[in-house]
Amino acid sequence: MPFNFQKLRSEFPALHQKINKRPLVYLDNAATTQKPRAVIERLTQYYNSENSNIHRGAHFLSQQATLAYEEARKTTQMFINAAFDHEVLFTRGTTEAINLVAHSFFKKFVKQGDEIIVSAMEHHSNIVPWQIACENHGATLKVIPMDDRGVLDMEAYRQLLNEKTRLVAVTHVSNALGTINPVKEIINTAHKFDVPVLIDGAQALSHMKVDVQELDCDFYCFSGHKIYGPMGVGVLYGKEEWLNQMPPYQGGGEMIKEVTFEKTTFNELPFKFEAGTPNVGDVLGMEAAMRFISYLRMDEIAAHEKDLLQYGMQQLKTLDNIRFIGTAPEKTSVISFIFNDIHPYDTGTILDKLGIAVRTGHHCAQPVMDYFGVPGTVRASFAIYNTRDEIDILVEGLKKVREMFG
Ligand code: ALA
Repeated sequence: MPFNFQKLRSEFPALHQKINKRPLVYLDNAATTQKPRAVIERLTQYYNSENSNIHRGAHFLSQQATLAYEEARKTTQMFINAAFDHEVLFTRGTTEAINLVAHSFFKKFVKQGDEIIVSAMEHHSNIVPWQIACENHGATLKVIPMDDRGVLDMEAYRQLLNEKTRLVAVTHVSNALGTINPVKEIINTAHKFDVPVLIDGAQALSHMKVDVQELDCDFYCFSGHKIYGPMGVGVLYGKEEWLNQMPPYQGGGEMIKEVTFEKTTFNELPFKFEAGTPNVGDVLGMEAAMRFISYLRMDEIAAHEKDLLQYGMQQLKTLDNIRFIGTAPEKTSVISFIFNDIHPYDTGTILDKLGIAVRTGHHCAQPVMDYFGVPGTVRASFAIYNTRDEIDILVEGLKKVREMFG
């Protein structure tokens, strides 16, 4: 039976409000998704009756919270099909996951003269941690170029790989352009040079099924809040063979085996990388989000979002003077554009007055904006609960913007 996406909307309380006296049209899902009741209720339940510190207490609540937290690790393992649950590390989000690898992997494996490869369409969080680490260790950052559609130049990528390459870090899906990168091919190619690959999956997991074993990636990062879960929580998946060799990122409680003032020995995976009291409540909220997505079925999500992307492009193209930024053949439901040469911020402000939430600016991807020679774009990004009607409202909204500024 086809899924009823209108009915699905009723699961998301935040969608049913008025902004500036208009029904909210929420098209900023690449920045963060709204949360279903299942996630909100999981958080409430945890703080109402389960709250306790984990891995530490002999008492009932602590044991229950520990079980729930470790169960969430298993759910995550299944969600991305990791080989072992200890390959799943909970972090504050994608940014912290990348910083963890940049710090620990570099410390162990990178030396003066080595090279790291990123792509031209990375979010700042998959550029800056590598730049900092490169500077600290005397390594160099190399960049895979892209073309005018926002598609990576795979031949140039192959040319960049050599015996000095220590790691490739690329995004699965570009947040600014929507491009879905051929990550399987990127990984296979790097592995021919024995180079590990980190995939920034922040923009991917709400749109497609990810199987880390099938991809054979060495690291995969994502955030809870972009998959209908809470903010401030995310995941670093890493292959056991790498994580075991990497030194801890942060010191503190729980990540140790034994501490004396002379010497500390470290705990085993995954605890070696989870210093301090973790964000138990939000990990459980993120688990509820993963269950929610799994219940919906990814093929139905993908078909619905593909329809929104096609319909959105078709309707927006009826407007004069619209320039699309990011037209790769393989895309998620993200449409970035400049309208009538009006500054994206002005377009976004008028749309907001009409109750329409889009993101404007450089989307934390300034090199992408520089490549296209624009200060920023207007970005409409669709999720499972968006509708064709909302796209029509966006198009009418843009006509009003043109009346005011055109
Ligand atoms: N990285 C988020 C975005 O693309 C915040 O909007």
